[in-house]
Amino acid sequence: MDIYKVHGLSKIYFTEDRNALKRREFCALSDIEFTVRTQECICIMGESGSGKTTLLNILGGIVPPSTGRVYYKGDNLYQYANRKLEEYRRTQVGFIFQDYKLLDNLSIEDNIILPLMLDHQNVDMALKKVNKMAEILNIKDKLSCYPYELSGGQQQRAAICRALMNDPEVILADEPTGNLDDSSARIVMELLMNIKDQFKKTLIIVTHDHMVASWCDRMIQIELGRIIK
Ligand SMILES: Nc1ncnc2c1ncn2[C@@H]1O[C@H](COP(=O)(O)OP(=O)(O)O)[C@@H](O)[C@H]1O
Ligand SMILES: [Mg+2]
Repeated sequence: MDIYKVHGLSKIYFTEDRNALKRREFCALSDIEFTVRTQECICIMGESGSGKTTLLNILGGIVPPSTGRVYYKGDNLYQYANRKLEEYRRTQVGFIFQDYKLLDNLSIEDNIILPLMLDHQNVDMALKKVNKMAEILNIKDKLSCYPYELSGGQQQRAAICRALMNDPEVILADEPTGNLDDSSARIVMELLMNIKDQFKKTLIIVTHDHMVASWCDRMIQIELGRIIK
């Protein structure tokens, strides 16, 4: 079954041109068509500026497309009312970023538990969940530390743990190994693959690392906002 169907998608950004006192248009994506099957792992590859992050943010319900449709399990995402789109972002997708985006002044445990607290979930249940996932991601002994006390690979594993707290169906990862050395990158990819299989997730990874691509079922290559392969 297809979890995503992307049809005729384009994205135009408008920016102010102060000198000319007018708006400039920049077409970041055009004619994007693809599908993603449930529990598939795909990677989106392309040069810097080719529109990868824009595409991931559109799939994640963060950036609306200019034209075209994104179907998630058959529903047109951007026809959802705001509340439903917010619920989609909160319950269906987990985001992972190149720079981890952990909050510096919170412990690793508090960083991970934050989405559950924002969702008003029971604290004891939430702590159990954090412990279980932290064990799988091999950061259980780091829960009381602060982000600066962890290596890049450990911080990314904490960020993955946080992304999994709401049991999302889809993990959207934007260059998840971009700041990591080869061996940490390999560990992160192994863990992502284990989690995908164990918890039956769909995984969409933006990368320009061929090692990362080699773990994926399929590759979508984009160049200047268009799919070339
Ligand atoms: N919010 C924005 N406003 C204007 N232009 C943007 C915005 N976000 C991205 N862009 C432009 O769109 C293009 C694609 O960006 P992005 O999706 O971040 O590419 P990638 O992730 O492949 O590096 C770039 O030229 C970038 O400068
Ligand atoms: Mg990017």
